[in-house]
Amino acid sequence: MQEKQETPSKQSSASVLKSLSDRRALPMFPGVISKLDSALNAPSVSIDEVVSILSADLNTFSRIMKSASGFRYGSQPPKDLGEAVMRLGFAETRALTFAVAYTHSFEKPKNFSMATFWMHAFVSGLAAKEISAWLYRHKKMRVCDAPTAFLLGLAHEVGCLLLDKLNDEAFGRVVDELKTSQESQASLEHKRLGTTHAVIGAALLKYWGFTDNMVMAVAGHHFPARLPLAQQPIADMVLLAESMAGYMGFDNGVDKATPGVLNGFVTERMQVIGMSEADFLRLSERIKDALAEEDWMELASSTGNT
Ligand SMILES: [Fe+2]
Ligand SMILES: [Fe+2]
Repeated sequence: MQEKQETPSKQSSASVLKSLSDRRALPMFPGVISKLDSALNAPSVSIDEVVSILSADLNTFSRIMKSASGFRYGSQPPKDLGEAVMRLGFAETRALTFAVAYTHSFEKPKNFSMATFWMHAFVSGLAAKEISAWLYRHKKMRVCDAPTAFLLGLAHEVGCLLLDKLNDEAFGRVVDELKTSQESQASLEHKRLGTTHAVIGAALLKYWGFTDNMVMAVAGHHFPARLPLAQQPIADMVLLAESMAGYMGFDNGVDKATPGVLNGFVTERMQVIGMSEADFLRLSERIKDALAEEDWMELASSTGNT
């Protein structure tokens, strides 16, 4: 009976997107990413071309310059953006551009820490990349390429930002309830809001024109077994990536995760894809190294406040 009172805050994914779109509050996919991707996917690309795309976006420009001034590259900062891109290489430049442009597309949420949220997204992105490479090396499964894996890790929780934006009071009640509830975030959202961050996030990726596999990976990242068999591995990759982030102490800021603990549901999915706990731990050690190399923490804080 009590659920009846919550009905006004319940909406389907289509109506959530429509409400946000009507309020002109639906984030656009960052143009710099689309432009960079089409340049990098062309048969040949010049540094000048990449530089002219990146220099049009101030946030990306300053981040790339900063990253290329890190300790790995000696004491001299790069003299210009071209040198910075050469130092980082196209793959790293692309990952940083994704991270910067994507994070700057959203406003600060009302109910959770943006810096915590982005850190979870970055660690999940790095983890997804490692897991997709591991699946190929050890299981001969080509789930997706590295940039796609990174982007999925980065974007898998985007629905949290949309739910917060749509109705911050209703989402705030869910966030409060999660502090003491034993229920998962997705199941509580479904009960109280009629949809979940996974479904809404997937709807946004679909609207942005992402492939069906990517959309389904986000939609099913809490329940890979409910997807068609062919799409389960990519959703498992996202689930394991975000679980690795939680295991390492980087929860999404909405729902708690206990560092150092893997829940039973995740270990079941690891068995399905044939990953042992030792494999999981080895991969998380690699993420720690990647985190130390690039100052993701600083990027999360500069984008998010708290
Ligand atoms: Fe999630
Ligand atoms: Fe997550």
